[in-house]
Amino acid sequence: MSRATTTARSAWRRIVDTPLINALAAPHGIGRYLEVINPMWSLDNTRIPARITSITRETDDSVSIELSPNGEWTHFQAGQFIQVHVEIDGRQHNRCYSLSRSAYTRKPRITVKDHHDGFISHYLNTQLKVGDRIAISLAQGDFVLPAQIPTALLFIAGGSGITPIMAMIDTLLEHQHSGVITLLYYSRDCNSCIFRERLEELALQHLNFSLLMVYSRNDSQAKHALQGHFNQQHLLKALSLNPALVEQTRSLTIPLSYVCGPEQLINAVQSEYELLGLKDKLHSERFKAATAVHLHGEAGGDIAFNQSQSMVTNDGRSLLEQAEDAGLSPQSGCRMGICHTCSCLKTSGSVRNISTGEISHGEEHIRLCISQPLGDVSLSL
Ligand code: FES
Repeated sequence: MSRATTTARSAWRRIVDTPLINALAAPHGIGRYLEVINPMWSLDNTRIPARITSITRETDDSVSIELSPNGEWTHFQAGQFIQVHVEIDGRQHNRCYSLSRSAYTRKPRITVKDHHDGFISHYLNTQLKVGDRIAISLAQGDFVLPAQIPTALLFIAGGSGITPIMAMIDTLLEHQHSGVITLLYYSRDCNSCIFRERLEELALQHLNFSLLMVYSRNDSQAKHALQGHFNQQHLLKALSLNPALVEQTRSLTIPLSYVCGPEQLINAVQSEYELLGLKDKLHSERFKAATAVHLHGEAGGDIAFNQSQSMVTNDGRSLLEQAEDAGLSPQSGCRMGICHTCSCLKTSGSVRNISTGEISHGEEHIRLCISQPLGDVSLSL
């Protein structure tokens, strides 16, 4: 956005977004009225209107969606995500998706894989059209590159976990970063590999960028790819692709690393780094919440939803899932513990944090999507 546009916007905001005007426009605030005049006008930076400007099919079951938000949108850091709000059959839904291209780009882009059980991802893959309008939040999340970029970086991605990593690699290469960048990328096969052509092109164009694909299925088209699931050999093979890292590879000096993908991949990479004593060198981001552990006889008890004066028998799943199945509509976004949209006051009882395994008791604010109730729990919901 140009400086002149930013200045004009702040002047305009100073005029219309005042306590007096908002009081006169109560209970909805002036933003709601502006939206009625023009759907692309909004003062709410948690729901910024964005027009779909292009949709590109990446694989049979994933699309990249380019967005043109209004002037409330600011910049983002590569690796961050946005909350996407869509209205389907008169009901509002929201989910989080990582931005999937360079942070220098004017128009943000998300890439969405059509998960079999994903209502929103299926809608975005099959129903959304160029020209449609959705709403997005400002970029969030701390899965980002450090302020001081080190001389070597290793990225490990699995499936659609490539999206924030693609943004980081794109940003680094666009900025002519001269350090060594290595990507170890796991997919089912050649055809399900998101951004395969783009990544191969980048590897040919930039000598400092090395790419190692690994497929879980036997793929006759995959000439240079390895097969199987993450292990130390893959890690060493990926690092040895770049001559600058060969010496480090022998002495197992692994550079600052980022991993994003399914739970099994993250767990395997975390265990390997722990084993090597390199836990602090690894940043990880899941694209799905960790699965609640089965609580052998520990679940039990009741969940009381105080505000709606209802109660259900605890079945051991996350509090978000159990609240939704009980007919409540708590706010949610990422459903994996990062956006805090589902934050809620627990007035009593104990819960287990599904991501960390930590157990906490008594009155506290919890994230419903990653809280597994242990016995009786009361919520201010
Ligand atoms: S929905 Fe994002 S933290 Fe729970």
